Amino acid sequence: MKLPKGPQSPALVQMLQWIFRPMPFMAECAERYGDIFTMQLNGPVVFTCNPQALQQMLTSDTKEFTAPRDWNMVFEPMLGKNSLITVDGEVHRRQRQLLMPPLHGDRMRTYGQVINDVTEQVISQWQIDKPFCVRSAMQAITMRVIMQAVFGLYEGPRAEELETVLATMLNESSPFRVIELYFPALRQDFGPRSSWGRFIRRRQRVHQLLNEEIQERRDNPDESRTDILNLLMAARDEDGQPMTDEELRDELMTLLTAGHETTATALTWALYWIHKSPSVQEKLLAELDNLSDRSDSTSILKLPYLNAVYSETLRIYPVGMLTFPRVVKTPVSLCGYELAPGTVVLGSIYLTHQREDLYPQHQQFKPERFLERQFSPYEFLPFGGGVRRCIGMAFAQFEMKVVLAKILSSWDLALVDHRDVQPKRRGLVTGPDRSIQMVVKSQHQPKSRTLVHPQGDSHNN
Ligand code: HEM
Repeated sequence: MKLPKGPQSPALVQMLQWIFRPMPFMAECAERYGDIFTMQLNGPVVFTCNPQALQQMLTSDTKEFTAPRDWNMVFEPMLGKNSLITVDGEVHRRQRQLLMPPLHGDRMRTYGQVINDVTEQVISQWQIDKPFCVRSAMQAITMRVIMQAVFGLYEGPRAEELETVLATMLNESSPFRVIELYFPALRQDFGPRSSWGRFIRRRQRVHQLLNEEIQERRDNPDESRTDILNLLMAARDEDGQPMTDEELRDELMTLLTAGHETTATALTWALYWIHKSPSVQEKLLAELDNLSDRSDSTSILKLPYLNAVYSETLRIYPVGMLTFPRVVKTPVSLCGYELAPGTVVLGSIYLTHQREDLYPQHQQFKPERFLERQFSPYEFLPFGGGVRRCIGMAFAQFEMKVVLAKILSSWDLALVDHRDVQPKRRGLVTGPDRSIQMVVKSQHQPKSRTLVHPQGDSHNN
């Protein structure tokens, strides 16, 4: 059994390339070695961007492959060892079952109003002709939304501090933090000014705040609450045991971080692309202006052009470059290579979305491709697939569409400058390589409507 070919440079050089320039490095490997190749990253790791191979790997990730916790350990310092991401097998299956309902279907749709209100709170502070940082604004929205989903109505000093400390922790994800994650020996606490020291002190504070919240709930149980924390606290395992405080804390940490940073980045890209491409902006505004009720999330969710813009945003620069690692369980043939048990395989979402055979002129932002053709879940997979497919997929899609509809139907915005923005690594995910600034030009006046209500909502004549 032979591993697919890959770069011959020393393992340390490959690791550094992977940390500092993961996307160009993957693209160079694909160009040279094709749909499947091996990088040396603390051991051999196979990458693939072949849709058939991805299908095989993601549809049988409990049979020929597994999705084990040991390969997700880079997430442990941030999320703990009881997070959905750092557990596997039966515990993972049960936790997913528990978390699915509040993030899907009718339960999820009840957040429509919350998303609208939170967006209104943030964007009502924008002032005409005053530039703002898109990412910070989007982060404020997605953080408050996920906090409300997780904790219910959540206000006051503890909520504010939690929001601030978490945002600071996530904004500090430089490549050096990534080096610390990949090389545990470098995780040394040299005091509050050192990189790791700062991280663990902030994490400690977040843990304290979450523990206080859990304790307060235990002291004042209220069965009528429908938020995710109440649901987790009410859950019992097969022996009738509730989750421990540490388990609850790790799960909260997972939802709060995975649930806001990714969506904020995707929204930032969406606003960038919409305002970089006048024809896209025009078509999208025409579609939104024609909605009879622009606060009705069910209609927003069904808009075809908005859906195409949302999809193309997640295609061109996917926030998650990769699926979580899968490990071969029984000998398997992938793209003509016989892989032995124990081989680690990663699905490259980034490379799959850049395939010229699937997405002609793949470097261009063209939402129309999603109207002209339907892509399979192994050709377009911004949320991964199989047993570890993103649990927040429906929630993120819903939130992104409602936020975009609200912003675009309230304000006419413009980019402060039209220089290109490229994706770069931001911790374990990706994001824009520089701050994107926008400016409010005026209140949005729908073309097909005349009556505008103070909040920016409009009605047909
Ligand atoms: C645009 C936004 C988002 C993107 C692009 C994204 C992307 C991803 C990707 C690529 C994976 C790995 C899937 C795999 O290995 O097959 C993942 C997993 C995960 N995501 Fe997301 N995500 C987003 C939003 C969210 C939200 C809103 C939440 C929570 C409310 C969330 C929670 C999670 C969790 C907990 C996992 C791990 C699932 C498991 O191990 O079973 N994500 N996400």
